[in-house]
Amino acid sequence: MGKDVIVACDFAGADQVFSFLDLFEGAKPFLKIGMELYYAEGPSIVREIKRRGHKIFLDLKLHDIPNTVKKSMAVLSRLDVDLCNLHAAGTTPMMEAALEGLTRPDGSRPLLIAVTQLTSTDQAHLEEDLLIHQPMEQVVMHYASKAKEAGLDGVVCSPLEAAEVHACCGSDFLTVTPGVRFADGEIGDQKRVMTPAQAKLVGSDYIVVGRPITAAADPVAAYERCVREFVG
Ligand code: C5P
Repeated sequence: MGKDVIVACDFAGADQVFSFLDLFEGAKPFLKIGMELYYAEGPSIVREIKRRGHKIFLDLKLHDIPNTVKKSMAVLSRLDVDLCNLHAAGTTPMMEAALEGLTRPDGSRPLLIAVTQLTSTDQAHLEEDLLIHQPMEQVVMHYASKAKEAGLDGVVCSPLEAAEVHACCGSDFLTVTPGVRFADGEIGDQKRVMTPAQAKLVGSDYIVVGRPITAAADPVAAYERCVREFVG
């Protein structure tokens, strides 16, 4: 898979998703389905969106004992998602078990990426809640390296970390980056953002874009602008 724009489908239910997707005539954006929509609608939403011809990043961030994650990943693999994720904090045995569970009898599998540290976690949380005393950047790169060693395909990270992740884990280790805003757009609750064009320059492989597209007056035009800036 090459560089692409992934649209975060952060809607509360199926009706809103399909009204949004119906705006796109012909184009089939790569979509991210998160916990809210998945828990509201269940696997049928994944099947229906696949049936319509979209690629899917199922963003459920698994984190449990290896056996449970392995079996759950096998279920997601049968749902035919293209990309899914877990928390690297689940440790190497969990990541390896996840890969085993995802791998289909014919050897194919969805891509698997890791969350290193959530962007809502800051240095104070690391130290006080998690008893981790290294600087955040070092922690993120360490978790990314462990994900790479376990055989994963990449990480979710800020576009500001993409270049360092590639330097640390190789240029073919995927960086999937949210926190993207148009130069003339609303930033909202995101803190550290880049434009699609800047994310391209720093080497992001996929940008995840929600409200700049879903809340735009013309979502299709906003999506096309994102693709033009990021993919070129
Ligand atoms: O609307 P917006 O473009 O901010 O949406 C970004 C998407 O990426 C949301 O689904 C959000 O939950 C997700 N995300 C993020 N930052 C992370 C991880 C995921 O914004 N570190």
